[in-house]
Amino acid sequence: MNRRVLVAGGAGYIGSHTTVELIAAGYDVIVVDNFSNSDASSLEGIQRITGVMPTFIEADCCDKEAMRRVFEAHDFDSVIHFAAFKAVGESVAEPMKYYRNNLLSLLNILELMREYGRRNVVFSSSATVYGDADVLPVTEMTPRKPATSPYGNTKQMSEDILRDMVHATEGLQGIALRYFNPIGAHPSAHIGELPRGVPNNLVPYITQTAAGVRECLSIFGDDYPTPDGSCLRDYIDIVDLARAHVLAIGRMVEGRSKARYEVFNVGTGRPVSVFELVKGFEQANDLKLNYRVAARREGDVTAIWADTTLANEELGWHAERELCDTLRAAWAWECSVRGIDR
Ligand code: UFG
Repeated sequence: MNRRVLVAGGAGYIGSHTTVELIAAGYDVIVVDNFSNSDASSLEGIQRITGVMPTFIEADCCDKEAMRRVFEAHDFDSVIHFAAFKAVGESVAEPMKYYRNNLLSLLNILELMREYGRRNVVFSSSATVYGDADVLPVTEMTPRKPATSPYGNTKQMSEDILRDMVHATEGLQGIALRYFNPIGAHPSAHIGELPRGVPNNLVPYITQTAAGVRECLSIFGDDYPTPDGSCLRDYIDIVDLARAHVLAIGRMVEGRSKARYEVFNVGTGRPVSVFELVKGFEQANDLKLNYRVAARREGDVTAIWADTTLANEELGWHAERELCDTLRAAWAWECSVRGIDR
């Protein structure tokens, strides 16, 4: 059985945590990354946690010839493709940057997998493909609604490209994992999220505010039709999310897939409001956060959370970590990045 996995975007936030879990599960990992939104320090973090430095190649997945050299040099049978841009607002301002990067990287990887006869691919999809869903929680059968950003469009298109390519290529199978809101960091605090500039996402903004890097967290809207007026999301611990990738790869490597192309939601199944998350962070870490209520952010859906039955039953995956532990790990990571004594 071939237990080598190419992790495209393996130095990034989700990629680095997944690399750790793959190594712990006995896989050989080859990381490809161009550090466009990541840092070589995450590779050192992986080594500190696992004792193993994964094989690393600095390359852009959009550079097909560079990727061809990776396929020539390494005989992995499986690929996990994380290498994509993910800032929703930026994608609205610079759509071509998103279409070019997110689609071309996938096309290159799938074409090379077909050419070199590589079998298994996991794709990083997103809850964003559901758009503003009519019925909650969403199952994998919930119809996808029109995407609300070019970023969301690339995720919908990528799912379709993967599905079509799998069906057209004998021996190729794929799993798209639809992530809800990944948060937290490895409990060792050796790896975590490293957003560049002002964070777009809630938890890095919270931890940077607690660290004094940002003055005040803005809560985007308290007049939504939800119990406390703030938006509801499904916050999934990054290590739990990473484990879902290992199970997805195992399912394909061991020939347990029920269809050549499968889709799984990866969330906790539990809606949490912005206010609850902020209070949870304060309680978990015994500190006070400076925040204020601001206007709604354009493009935000009121609520989305996952029905995770399929991943529970088919992947044998369950979200295990408690939210307070995840929020502790997020703060521990921020402190380690900033050199703060907790
Ligand atoms: N929020 C704030 N203040 C902030 C940042 C966020 O109040 O400074 C709120 C948002 O309004 C939202 C919630 O916190 O209600 C979560 O926002 P994030 O930006 O952390 O996450 P999103 O739910 O907007 O986006 C996530 C992923 C996207 C994905 C989307 C699809 O980051 O990649 O889910 O559901 F497209």
